[in-house]
Amino acid sequence: MADAFDLAVVGTGPGGYVCAIRAAQLGMKVAVVEKWPTFGGTCLNIGCIPSKALLHASELYEETTLHFPTLGIKVGTPKLDLDAMMKHKAGSVDANTSGVEFLFKKNKITALQGVGSIEGPTTVKVTPDKGDAQTIETKAIVIATGSDSTPLPGIEIDEKRVVTSTGALALDAVPERLLVVGAGVIGLELGSVWARLGARVTVVEFLDGILPGMDGEVARQFRRLLDKQGFAFHLSTKLAALDTSGKSIKAKLEPVGKGEASEIETDVVLVAVGRRPYTEGLGLKKAGVGLDDHGRVVTDGHYRTNVETIFAIGDVIAGPMLAHKAEDEGIAVAEILAGQAGHVNYGVIPSVVYTRPEIAALGKTEDELKAEGADFKVAKFPFTANGRARAMLATEGFVKLLADKATDRVLGAHVLGHNAGEMIHELAVLMEFGGSAEDLARTCHAHPTLSEAIREAALAAGVGPIHM
Ligand code: FAD
Ligand code: NAI
Repeated sequence: MADAFDLAVVGTGPGGYVCAIRAAQLGMKVAVVEKWPTFGGTCLNIGCIPSKALLHASELYEETTLHFPTLGIKVGTPKLDLDAMMKHKAGSVDANTSGVEFLFKKNKITALQGVGSIEGPTTVKVTPDKGDAQTIETKAIVIATGSDSTPLPGIEIDEKRVVTSTGALALDAVPERLLVVGAGVIGLELGSVWARLGARVTVVEFLDGILPGMDGEVARQFRRLLDKQGFAFHLSTKLAALDTSGKSIKAKLEPVGKGEASEIETDVVLVAVGRRPYTEGLGLKKAGVGLDDHGRVVTDGHYRTNVETIFAIGDVIAGPMLAHKAEDEGIAVAEILAGQAGHVNYGVIPSVVYTRPEIAALGKTEDELKAEGADFKVAKFPFTANGRARAMLATEGFVKLLADKATDRVLGAHVLGHNAGEMIHELAVLMEFGGSAEDLARTCHAHPTLSEAIREAALAAGVGPIHM
């Protein structure tokens, strides 16, 4: 007799595991199905966590030559121990994936290893690597199978010399030259890791700017900072072919418009041209679950697919491919299944690029507001005018707030600066409460902090900043 569950979640990334935990906390009998040997999905195994471990370690490595001399710290020539750095990365991954395993046990969630396929509206088949398949019955199913790297036609990935983000997180030596295809978040974060460790990084980007979707002014300013860090950019350019037969890889680059093709040589190529929803092996056709033109599972405003009992969340549905978006959808769908009013405010989802300096963005960009014909004001404050930033040698970047001209309500917030990813959250709370720039400007901020630059930008939206 098959086990009966209230909920079966397929996939244990940040969407799936958070959904399972909240559902169990709300009293449901929950099963999770995961095809990988460890829990946590892309984010914990080959995404957010390992990349941030390497970004942190490589940033400190770079600091020893970049800022230590000015700060009066003499350490001689730093030596890289890449094996130890990779061990630190692996340790961070293990701590997090085993943490999820612990939370499943704590919340009495049944974890099943194997590929999950949907056999019917209330039936999931689990096929493990070894041993027999089993079938479980459940009142509801949540698809949380995430995404994988988008391939480039004609470019073969070996994860050694021609890599996706997964291979780029596990190179066994620092390449002398790294060619990054795609100036998006992955290209610039992982390009930064290897640049800091000594690689010469060249970035090929299809569009005429970097970080599509970011506020244009922020992206342009950041591009200048990356130029100073030694990145070489080929914008409006695409990778046409790779010749990997020799010791060096030969890459043929073609301009997007008219012009001559060119060739450059490199040691490693990172293909980072986006991610696509992952639904392989799920049996969605048989189950009758609808997909859109991008291969994403189609859901209504309550994460329900066209099949009454089947829901979907995270990277496999529309919206930004971010771990915290997947988590919030996981919580929302668990609450909806429990009869509550689960909800995600898509207007206030922070997005952070963990480079030097960091970029954090929230709400609308200036270009979006212009396109909407909104009547808004722009207020900025540079970190060069912030005392703590000067003391920390962290004066690169600025805070930019966009507020409605009539009501002063903050519509967008963009921070280019050290620790921007931590600082953005006071703006998230402000926007969640529909706050105005004046609300922020009247809030006392501790001195000396980088966050004072955020308050000064809010003052700049009204009576004017003090320190400029
Ligand atoms: P995933 O995390 O992709 O998890 C899906 C899970 O489903 C996987 O474990 C997979 O094995 C399993 N699965 C798939 N099909 C089946 C099946 N049929 N049966 C059983 N199991 C199945 N986002 C951020 O917000 N911040 C970051 O700093 C960040 N850094 C990133 C760095 C990199 C290099 C990458 C690649 C991504 C990064 N992301 C980041 C994006 C983030 O990882 C994703 O948005 C997030 O993991 C999506 O969560 P998810 O639960 O939808 O899916
Ligand atoms: P992306 O969508 O951020 O960037 C891909 C870039 O590749 C774009 O600039 C695009 O114009 C370019 N491109 C596409 N085709 C190309 C071609 N043929 N030649 C040259 N350039 C081409 O995708 P990326 O960087 O792969 O990241 C995937 C997802 O992972 C992102 O959507 C992001 O949400 C998530 N992620 C988030 C992180 C974070 O929150 N810090 C970190 C890493 C990934």
